[in-house]
Amino acid sequence: MGTRAHEIYDVVGIGFGPSNLSLAISLEEHQENVPAHPTRAAFFERQSAFGWHRNMLLPSATMQISFLKDLATFRNPVSRFGYVSFLHESGRLARFVNNMDFFPTRLEFHQYLEWAASRFTDRVSYGSDVTAIRLPQGAGAGSSEYLQVEARDNATGSTRVVNARNVAISTGLVPRMPDGMERDERVWHSSEFLEKYRRMNPGDLKSVAVVGAGQSAAEITRFLYDSLPHAEVSAIFPSYGYSVADDTPFANQIFDPDAVDDYYYGTDKARESFWRYHKNTNYSVVDSDVIKDLYRRSYDEDVQGTERLHFLNMTRVREVKRAGDETRVLLDTLLDGHTQELDVDAIVFATGYDSMEPSRLLGDLDRYCLRDAAGRHRVQRDNRLVTTPELSCGIYIQGGTEHTHGLSSALLSNIAVRSGEIADSIVGSRPARDRGQPLHAAAV
Ligand code: FDA
Ligand code: NAP
Repeated sequence: MGTRAHEIYDVVGIGFGPSNLSLAISLEEHQENVPAHPTRAAFFERQSAFGWHRNMLLPSATMQISFLKDLATFRNPVSRFGYVSFLHESGRLARFVNNMDFFPTRLEFHQYLEWAASRFTDRVSYGSDVTAIRLPQGAGAGSSEYLQVEARDNATGSTRVVNARNVAISTGLVPRMPDGMERDERVWHSSEFLEKYRRMNPGDLKSVAVVGAGQSAAEITRFLYDSLPHAEVSAIFPSYGYSVADDTPFANQIFDPDAVDDYYYGTDKARESFWRYHKNTNYSVVDSDVIKDLYRRSYDEDVQGTERLHFLNMTRVREVKRAGDETRVLLDTLLDGHTQELDVDAIVFATGYDSMEPSRLLGDLDRYCLRDAAGRHRVQRDNRLVTTPELSCGIYIQGGTEHTHGLSSALLSNIAVRSGEIADSIVGSRPARDRGQPLHAAAV
């Protein structure tokens, strides 16, 4: 896609995962409703093509939300970008319904996202890493009507700069390794799993270990056990057993669009209670079918008198020692207080993610962004960072707002509605002659 250097875009999106893809759809639908007032948008994505957690596209992994929580339906149930439209165009609608299952495979959902992303190739620059957002040289925050976004083309190394009245930073979760653990060709984080796994000769993987008791860890353990029938597979986790993800209907309401208001406008105590009572909907928990799959495999081994699936529970990794192809893992076993050693050919740390943090990209601009008493960014309800009054440009973030917008911030549950709110806010901040109707009034 060719961005124009002198044009001032209404919004430049950084990252083109589901969040900014959903924003592109919201802006597109606004434009369809108010054609006389087009919104000029451009997006930069560092991957060379659209991809959503590709390294975790394990064959039997299923979605953790209903297919109806797609990129558009909750905002606009008649959107042509909804999952049902995708199924219809793919010729699979009737067969999908015959499945009677709200939770498609991640592989199919990925196809849906690619299908939607393919409608926006004219405004996305793939293979482009945004390296900085800043005020134009010599301009003060109060005098500039736009920010500059600098992106590096990963293929050529060249840099280009575009101008934006607003930016939408949606760069996603950040993989987290335990302190002191370094990744390499034998020590992987779950976010790079399939890529690193495919570089190996499966025959060389005779002993593998997976660290963690979340969804990623359980899925990878199941995958390795099934894919490497000759290998010893050790699951190392800090709890006594895997805990189930609560996806029962009352608890699931915390992901409803209304819950964002309840969280945002709630008291500190209410917000704390959301986390205390409902963290187990998402973190350090596993879908019940994956837990049952693993237990069944372990039980079948008992029946057959074999054992190559090992559950090292109440255990944490103290240290990983690497030398060439050799990897020795030192483990602290809480049950008996002993340290044991495990030699593996590869170890996967499925130890979770940190939330998105926009400060690095914002650089010097960050000083205009206000923070709360705990040092976290203050964020308006429409996902715009609260800034000092002199900065007139909008900085929107998708992700990194769990402290203000609640548990669904890093998930897909609310992206259709959230992107509509951001689009409304961007359109609403334009001069009246440019604006047309707000999106919500026009869409459904
Ligand atoms: P996402 O991480 O998807 O996209 C961010 C994009 O920004 C990436 O494509 C990245 O390359 C790009 N980028 C980053 N920095 C950049 C830069 N400087 N310049 C240019 N591009 C840059 N949630 C849910 O509700 N249901 C589910 O089923 C799942 N399933 C799931 C599976 C797995 C394996 C994980 C790890 C997570 C989930 N999630 C989930 C949660 C997940 O956060 C969510 O599904 C989306 O990925 C959020 O979309 P975003 O676009 O915000 O981030
Ligand atoms: P997670 O839920 O944060 O789980 C991380 C796990 O690693 C926890 O069990 C944690 O234990 C453990 N851990 C952290 N540090 C450790 C250490 N030093 N030693 C041992 N264990 C350690 O991360 P995740 O499983 O990657 O899930 C992240 C998100 O992705 C969730 O939203 C999840 O639903 C989603 N996801 C979805 C799918 C899918 O859609 N099919 C697949 C995978 C992931 P503590 O509890 O002690 O911290």
